[in-house]
Amino acid sequence: MRRFLVVGHRADSTGYFKLDDLPGSGGRMDILAMSASAALFLSHGLRQDTEVWLVLNGGRDGKPRTIRMIGSEARYLFPDERNMASMIRNALIRYKGKGEMESTPGMYISDMDLKDALRRVSQDSELIYLKEDGDDVRKTEIPENTTFVLGDSEDLSPAEESSLMTMGAKKMSLGKTHMHTWQAIAVMNYELDRSAGDGDGTL
Ligand SMILES: C[S@@+](CC[C@H](N)C(=O)[O-])C[C@H]1O[C@@H](n2cnc3c(N)ncnc32)[C@H](O)[C@@H]1O
Repeated sequence: MRRFLVVGHRADSTGYFKLDDLPGSGGRMDILAMSASAALFLSHGLRQDTEVWLVLNGGRDGKPRTIRMIGSEARYLFPDERNMASMIRNALIRYKGKGEMESTPGMYISDMDLKDALRRVSQDSELIYLKEDGDDVRKTEIPENTTFVLGDSEDLSPAEESSLMTMGAKKMSLGKTHMHTWQAIAVMNYELDRSAGDGDGTL
């Protein structure tokens, strides 16, 4: 199982953002929507072994929320940014604020903050913080069940990074090039696909 967890530092967690203004009113919800799409979608369907977790820290009510999407269960998702953001917004608006709720098949919303989410994912996977200055991912064997943690337009803060590293995370790099979050996710998926023996380059 592959899992991507993206920390949305300013991402709106109440659902009252405009689909026409995902970067502004959504607090860079564009990044989270594109990251979810890059994590889950293939050309003709969804990656069945992949999950994406979006930690939304920028609630107007000061309450963080976490959206989980499970590739093998998801329905009614489309890969474009606007549709993805609208599914996230619907989940946020319908959420009553306690425990976890399935908003549409395969999409779950809860009141987990980053520490709660990291605690949960560390129970069934190894943790890797994807960061430009980490160790080269190509030089390490990636465990089958891994959660890759990424920042949004900002890297993890020193406090967030320290919580993650305290849980035994390793810091790994996809090279020195500074990529957008969704690009780093696409490249990580590519690296994992190739190392799993996906194709020899012939079509
Ligand atoms: C837009 S970047 C954040 C700011 C960026 N570090 C910079 O200096 O411009 C978004 C996230 O993508 C991931 N990322 C980007 N490039 C990467 C790389 N070369 N290797 C590993 N992760 C990367 C990191 O998790 C990063 O926090």
